[in-house]
Amino acid sequence: MNKSDDDIPQDEREGDKDSQNPVMAEVSSHDTTSAIALVGHPIHAMMVHFPIAFSTGTLAADVLYWWSADPFWLRVGLWAVGGAFASGVAAGIAGTAELLLVKGIRVRAASWTHAVSAMTLLSILAVNWGLRLVSPESVLPHGLGLSILGMIFTGLAGWHGGKLVFDHGVGIMVSSKE
Ligand code: HEM
Repeated sequence: MNKSDDDIPQDEREGDKDSQNPVMAEVSSHDTTSAIALVGHPIHAMMVHFPIAFSTGTLAADVLYWWSADPFWLRVGLWAVGGAFASGVAAGIAGTAELLLVKGIRVRAASWTHAVSAMTLLSILAVNWGLRLVSPESVLPHGLGLSILGMIFTGLAGWHGGKLVFDHGVGIMVSSKE
């Protein structure tokens, strides 16, 4: 019995079209295995939890400062955003090395979307940290506004990073025995 187009799931039909498209076939032909890895684990994926957690912690500290007016939360916010920036730059260095060294990652538009959103996040974190260092009293409202913007970009960068791994299979190391 012949299968009509309607019997085939849409994602399979689109996958078929992709493999017939010469540009998509060229993109998929390159290896996406991580080049910056420690005993088989991509280092960038191991590091990204720190900027995500510190950025979330910064927003939480600002909200608690707004709510309690306790200067303790000002100090927490200063250290949290500094930690977010430093760990984000460290993760960004590993991610950039991966992006530039691995052709299969470099040729994907999705990798650049992730890189641009992540670098925008790092810039927001830098401004938010610098603001607190020179003028701690500006946390309300400017620091809080920057923390909200930082959280939005943490979500965007994290979501696009996740898409790279789970949709495109970037950085996944599967042995030929598996
Ligand atoms: C600034 C330059 C950055 C570049 C060029 C970059 C590049 C990459 C690449 C190539 C991957 C695929 C996995 C791998 O090969 O290791 C990835 C994954 C990922 N990235 Fe980035 N990244 C950057 C910064 C960041 C930052 C600051 C964050 C924090 C929000 C982040 C969050 C993620 C996440 C959550 C994943 C998925 C990891 C997983 O689920 O295993 N990236 N990134």
